[in-house]
Amino acid sequence: MRNVNELNYPLCLAPMVGLTHVSLRRLMNDYMPKNATTHWPTEMLNSRRVPRENLKTTPETLRRSEENNLVPQILGNEEIPIEKSVIRLVNEWGASGIDINMGCPVQKALKHNYGVSLMGDVDYAAKVVEITKKHSTVPVSVKLRAVGSEKSVPELIVFVQKLVDAGADWITLHPRTAEQKRRGSADWNQITELKKHVSIPIIGNGDIQTADDVIQMLTTTGADKAMAGRALAARPWMLWQLGEKLNFENPIAFENQKAPATAEEEGAEYGRALLKFIDYCEEDFMLNAGVSESVTLRKIQFFIKTTHVWLEFGHALMAVASRAKTLNDLRVLVGQFFQQQQRMNLRTELRQ
Ligand SMILES: Cc1cc2nc3c(=O)[nH]c(=O)nc-3n(C[C@H](O)[C@H](O)[C@H](O)COP(=O)(O)O)c2cc1C
Repeated sequence: MRNVNELNYPLCLAPMVGLTHVSLRRLMNDYMPKNATTHWPTEMLNSRRVPRENLKTTPETLRRSEENNLVPQILGNEEIPIEKSVIRLVNEWGASGIDINMGCPVQKALKHNYGVSLMGDVDYAAKVVEITKKHSTVPVSVKLRAVGSEKSVPELIVFVQKLVDAGADWITLHPRTAEQKRRGSADWNQITELKKHVSIPIIGNGDIQTADDVIQMLTTTGADKAMAGRALAARPWMLWQLGEKLNFENPIAFENQKAPATAEEEGAEYGRALLKFIDYCEEDFMLNAGVSESVTLRKIQFFIKTTHVWLEFGHALMAVASRAKTLNDLRVLVGQFFQQQQRMNLRTELRQ
């Protein structure tokens, strides 16, 4: 991949700690229209750890050999760890691009002066892009947040232009401020403005809950691509629904079927997808990488915690899922829960 706009599908998954792992990507792939291509993230990877971790057994860096267009996300600000991480991720692990995190607002990232802190120092942020580029044979992107109120859009443009000059190949903008974390509304106008003023591809992120939202974002902002996190994890078939709207062929696994459309159809699909996700987690984490059952179970419970809010009785699913002590318990409990008809809401407040 030379740049992200070479790939033909206008929707991608967001990097999310604890969620964007091998098994979630595998589930998503089942719903990708045939012949559609997009890039795939990892959870953010600390550049101080990547150089010494076993990339084949660390849960965050597990990958399947058939995966392609993987763009792992790194967190860091020092040349040596970035250099070592990039070289390993590209040469040993098979990254097709490297994404730099400039949006993480958690205390630990602020303390070490990376994540969203980098947005406070434009020259330093540009330097991080420059050193990443210097050591990378694949494209380098940056995922950013909004800088503040509408008045600061010019500031954002100046900031991004410096990253472009330093070699960034594309930018993902999540236009919520660090203070907003993941709540409140995302200011899509900042995506529009950025797209107008910079020449590299722009991916817009934030507030996407349905396939119609994807189309809305692309048409109102002019973004090259949309990125969705929480809602796409909850309804991975959004990839298929969007494909139907854009006249892509059906996903291979669902030939001659229609994408779930009603609240009841989506509720039933959530149940089927969750059972499949449990199987994938068991195979990818426990059987293939020797991850313990309790860690694997916690990953699935975290997935339910993030996504249950779209289900009308999601809180009941949460209560049921938290009782499970093994994956088999969980399968039985989830199976029973979805024997009753469940409905999925189109929207939720996105507070999780
Ligand atoms: C549980 C969770 C973990 C996240 N971890 C990361 C991360 O590692 N790197 C990153 O750039 N953004 C991270 N984010 C932010 C998402 O990538 C995305 O920007 C945000 O959720 C807004 O998109 P959405 O409204 O479609 O979910 C995380 C979000 C969630 C919900």
